[in-house]
Amino acid sequence: MKDINTFISESLQQRIKNHSLRTLKPENSLVDFCSNDYLGFSRSKELKALFENELKNYPDYRLGSGGSRLLAGNHSFTESLENKIAIFHDAESAMIYNSGFDANVGLFSSLPQRGDTIISDEYIHASIIDGIRLSHASRFVFRHNNLTSLEHKLKLAKGKIFIVVESVYSMDGDEAPLKEMVKLAKQYNAALIVDEAHAVGIFGDSGRGVVHELGLCNDVFARIITFGKALGTHGAAILGSSQLRSYLINFSRAFIYTTAAPFLNHLAIQCAYVYLKSRDHQSDIHQRIKLFRQSIKAGPKLLDSRSAIQIIVIPGNNKAREAARLIQQEGFDVRAILSPSVAAGSERLRICLHNHNLTTEIKNLCELLNRIL
Ligand SMILES: Cc1ncc(COP(=O)(O)O)c(C=O)c1O
Repeated sequence: MKDINTFISESLQQRIKNHSLRTLKPENSLVDFCSNDYLGFSRSKELKALFENELKNYPDYRLGSGGSRLLAGNHSFTESLENKIAIFHDAESAMIYNSGFDANVGLFSSLPQRGDTIISDEYIHASIIDGIRLSHASRFVFRHNNLTSLEHKLKLAKGKIFIVVESVYSMDGDEAPLKEMVKLAKQYNAALIVDEAHAVGIFGDSGRGVVHELGLCNDVFARIITFGKALGTHGAAILGSSQLRSYLINFSRAFIYTTAAPFLNHLAIQCAYVYLKSRDHQSDIHQRIKLFRQSIKAGPKLLDSRSAIQIIVIPGNNKAREAARLIQQEGFDVRAILSPSVAAGSERLRICLHNHNLTTEIKNLCELLNRIL
């Protein structure tokens, strides 16, 4: 016990020494430029009214699902929701997971086998890395969005080959060159898997995602979509073939050995999709993105991004943290992303734009940023 407690204490001390200790903070009253609630769905009065009205049709609903999907936790409502999601995203099937983290761990830990190769972008999300770690496949990493580096790894790959990328990168806001990646995947007989966590709701017809926008639904082996970001609710789904769905039901431990999410969660997801289709939320968010990019004068420090995630690089943990503190002091919730979450020297402010951000708030934030930078 003494050894364990010493280890814990020393690890935390190290974080304090490096100025990288993570702590939880309560909610605040600052203007939101930090959440992933890009379309404002989680707080939308209209969506909440839709949900509350719909709920009246299910007076006997249960608070908990009752078990895992393979035991008592499967309900026809969930399967019908999965069908609707699959149709919307132009996929053969959809398999709901309790979170995006679970979906990635559940997919990558179960599908690639010993002797196979998973090739991932160096900036890929932690949930994918953890899924890969749980598989027995080899992992190659290619330089961010670099097709030459990807092809180099493809040449070295053995067994069944999986390429995994994000359509929109969560800490950079930029996009994978999916069309070119599809070509390479075909050339090397690899399966391309795309995490669309930050693309759904923002890109493509009614927010169907970048894969749909580019007409690549039939060229991508699987897509991971999440509901906790632009859709304002919670959970995720893996889109792919019906056979893939059956495979996951049989082999994906993150799906098999967990209690299914409750009905209320699935009803909220269904209502979020109804609301998503009800009007053009995309032009609202893209107007705000355009306004932000036009108003900010940060030169090359502002990374290229047409997504709701806008990045200003401020190298150094202390400098980035100080910039965030000054901005928060003026009433805007902007967070610094520090190393080791990003590479040392590329510390940054991650500014998320939302449909609940007023034009004046965006302009005022940009004025402040222009002064600080
Ligand atoms: C690219 C990406 N994939 C997956 C996830 C995990 O999704 P969830 O928050 O639903 O667990 C995230 C969340 O930050 C993400 O950014």
